[in-house]
Amino acid sequence: MTAVIVNADCTSEPPDSGHDVYITDPPFSAHVHDSAVSQGPGSSKNATVGTRKRDLGFDCITDELRRHVARTAAASRRWSVIYSDVESANTMRETCELVGAEYVRTMPWVRWSMPQLSGDRPPQGFEALIVCHAQATGPRGGRKPIAKHWNGPGNLTHLAHRALRGDGKHKCEKPLDQALDLVSYFSDPGECVRDDFAGSGAIGLACAILGRDYVGFEMSAEWAARATRLIGGDLEGRHWDRLREWCERTEDVSDGYAPTEPSRKRAAAREADRERARAWLAERVTI
Ligand SMILES: C[S@@+](CC[C@H](N)C(=O)[O-])C[C@H]1O[C@@H](n2cnc3c(N)ncnc32)[C@H](O)[C@@H]1O
Repeated sequence: MTAVIVNADCTSEPPDSGHDVYITDPPFSAHVHDSAVSQGPGSSKNATVGTRKRDLGFDCITDELRRHVARTAAASRRWSVIYSDVESANTMRETCELVGAEYVRTMPWVRWSMPQLSGDRPPQGFEALIVCHAQATGPRGGRKPIAKHWNGPGNLTHLAHRALRGDGKHKCEKPLDQALDLVSYFSDPGECVRDDFAGSGAIGLACAILGRDYVGFEMSAEWAARATRLIGGDLEGRHWDRLREWCERTEDVSDGYAPTEPSRKRAAAREADRERARAWLAERVTI
């Protein structure tokens, strides 16, 4: 298995790289970047007392970048899973459909990490993950859905992984247990997962643990280097904690009904992934 992080702007890469699955977390829209705050002393005259403007360290998504993401999704052999802020989820969906991907679902990630600090409105309680699939193009350019399979439970209504908090991590880092679930649900061992916005490398690490090939792009030299170290096995406490939790978790993949042949297959795929993760952990940690 190979897992690599390329320190480059993903738009310099062609969308079609022979990847089977695309799991990626692009920058969110301008309003999310502009309104990002964290708790602390106000830093400007306009800042509400108790809040501090939060610089995410990279620019918001542009129409051009969104089109690149959509084309890369359309070029995927199977699934694409694209994080989005809720307000722009439909724009991402429409862009993906426009360039030829089949839109399948939007999965909510119900998450909470900070109260609404302004106190004048409810907090945003979830993020969206846009799920698309490759489709066939007919001789006259018409598009047709193709057969799909995933390894997740049919009764999964939302993702509920605990958001990460605290300093020292990437400002938009996704929890490793969530990355493991996405890689396990949407790809099979031996497939190649592409990620155009690697950040801390969480998706890449999940691929390395679960035996998927991975190619990630990251524009920041610092984060590309850190992600490379992470994928190479240089984990921090939060990664070990989430990996252990994931290895120990049990789940019902019976879809909430009596087990069927497809649900048994999916259960076996999930258990095989957990075994892979346990073996990866056991090689590195003496219990
Ligand atoms: C939302 S974060 C991804 C966080 C990641 N999922 C994680 O768990 O750490 C987006 C990342 O994409 C990077 N980025 C932004 N635009 C990019 C581009 N055009 N090409 C490559 N990387 C880019 C940013 O530097 C940032 O690290």
